[in-house]
Amino acid sequence: MAAEAKHFKYVILGGGVAAGYAAREFGKQGVKPGELAIISKEAFLNLTVKNYFQVAPYERPALSKGYLFPQNAARLPGFHTCVGSGGEKLLPEWYSEKGIELILNTEIVKVDLAAKTLTSAAEATFTYEILLIATGSSVIKLTDFGVQGAEYNNILYLRDIQDGEKLLAAMQAKKDGKAVVVGGGYIGLELSAALKINNFDVTMVYPEPWCMPRLFTAGIAHFYEGYYASKGINLVKGTYAAGFDADENGDVTAVKLKDGRVLEADIVIVGVGGRPLTGLVKGQVAEEKGGIKVRYSLLVRLPSFFFVCVSVLLSCDIGMVMTLFLSKKISQTDGFFETSVPGVYAIGDVATFPMKLYNDQRRVEHVDHARKSAEQAVRAIKAKESGETISEYDYLPYFYSRSFDVAWQFYGDNVGDDVLFGDNDPAAAKPKFGSYWVKDGKVVGVFLEGGSADEYQAIARVARTQPPVVDVEALRKDGLDFATKI
Ligand code: FDA
Ligand code: NAD
Repeated sequence: MAAEAKHFKYVILGGGVAAGYAAREFGKQGVKPGELAIISKEAFLNLTVKNYFQVAPYERPALSKGYLFPQNAARLPGFHTCVGSGGEKLLPEWYSEKGIELILNTEIVKVDLAAKTLTSAAEATFTYEILLIATGSSVIKLTDFGVQGAEYNNILYLRDIQDGEKLLAAMQAKKDGKAVVVGGGYIGLELSAALKINNFDVTMVYPEPWCMPRLFTAGIAHFYEGYYASKGINLVKGTYAAGFDADENGDVTAVKLKDGRVLEADIVIVGVGGRPLTGLVKGQVAEEKGGIKVRYSLLVRLPSFFFVCVSVLLSCDIGMVMTLFLSKKISQTDGFFETSVPGVYAIGDVATFPMKLYNDQRRVEHVDHARKSAEQAVRAIKAKESGETISEYDYLPYFYSRSFDVAWQFYGDNVGDDVLFGDNDPAAAKPKFGSYWVKDGKVVGVFLEGGSADEYQAIARVARTQPPVVDVEALRKDGLDFATKI
């Protein structure tokens, strides 16, 4: 006989960044013991002691940075949420003190939103009143495209701590060896640096003319490519991994490139993008731009449109009253992370949400949004329960990265014409340069390498307020001064 379902008022499905920040917000807003559970598949096999460890939510960005340091490496419990934003570290004891149940090492394989039921791989069932979907992303694998040999040993990915453990073991086994990094995005740049400081001979391969093309302009990439080359990293651009060779043990030995070149490799790290994990609710909830849409569809807007017409035609006050009532109701569902299914919320990487600043809908795969969307959703849930209102999510995109001794931040939107400022010479003793993006005569995005805390605040302010620009050449000359004077 199947065991009885475990019931919770609130369930967070997923145990990553968004889950940790949502739990903290529930703690702040008030949650009774037994009301909230986090269900997460996260666990890792410690290869030294050969034992599975369950993992409470942690700051995923640490995995491609401090976790890979050759000395004083970051290790759990040091980077549990919410230390990444300077907050309290939520150790497993914090959850038990609050009566929040951590159901870890538990993969949910079926979600029935109509029956409000989740089923795990081990056939345990969980029921809920309110569900927060926080399943994040999975990595895109080369095996997904049928790349020959992509399943060989030591061809690795990095999404969670289990992957991190495998990477550490491979780095130990292939000490001082040759590493090929496939992909020129975030993972590619951060992992190449990490492998280099661990004394690997590193080659990066990517198909585009320059690295990180989804954010970097040619002028920005000029700096990082030159800087990486000066650290001894080989850059192979305009081609990709078409196949692999392995030895008799199945360990990778070479990467065969599309252009015919062959690169020797003891380890291959692949970072060719992520994919939001929305499959469990496919067909049960509205989707948009590859994510779970947290905005009601046109159908819900139709009654409002109908009442507008009625009030215009009849000059009837009741029509106006209904319009106001409905538009208030609708605006409450915008930017509060509730999906098309009432009581079901989506946060972090999986949510496609209204980006108020740009009047469109976007999905963002970065940690700042994972944290803020989680907090916003919990506040919205609690406000709904108490009949209070909170303000809409008004997100300013913020991305950052660091490697070796360089670090950058970006705020806003990278659309329109880019205006490079400062000195992007990779050989500069203290690199400091950036780029503005100007659209319709306004600055809409700013990138800065090597800024101070005050300067990063200044560029964030510019991206938020979008000041007008009349003379682009003057903006280039003023450079960072333009931002710091605003
Ligand atoms: P997240 O991936 O954190 O969590 C999802 C959780 O759901 C995981 O615990 C997963 O196991 C669980 N889950 C999924 N399916 C499940 C199922 N069926 N059953 C049970 N559990 C399930 N961003 C940034 O701005 N700056 C940075 O420096 C970095 N650095 C960085 C490094 C690395 C290595 C990665 C992989 C990513 C980053 N990011 C980043 C991106 C950032 O970490 C990411 O956007 C957030 O972690 C997203 O938070 P979520 O909670 O949405 O997903
Ligand atoms: P990405 O989208 O940043 O970069 C993918 C790169 O791989 C691109 O340059 C792409 O063109 C290239 N590529 C695609 N197919 C290829 C192929 N066949 N061969 C070689 N290159 C190929 O994705 P990522 O770097 O894999 O990162 C995964 C996720 O982790 C993303 O959500 C990212 O935002 C997140 N992340 C963020 C940070 C950060 O914000 N600092 C750090 C690490 C990871």
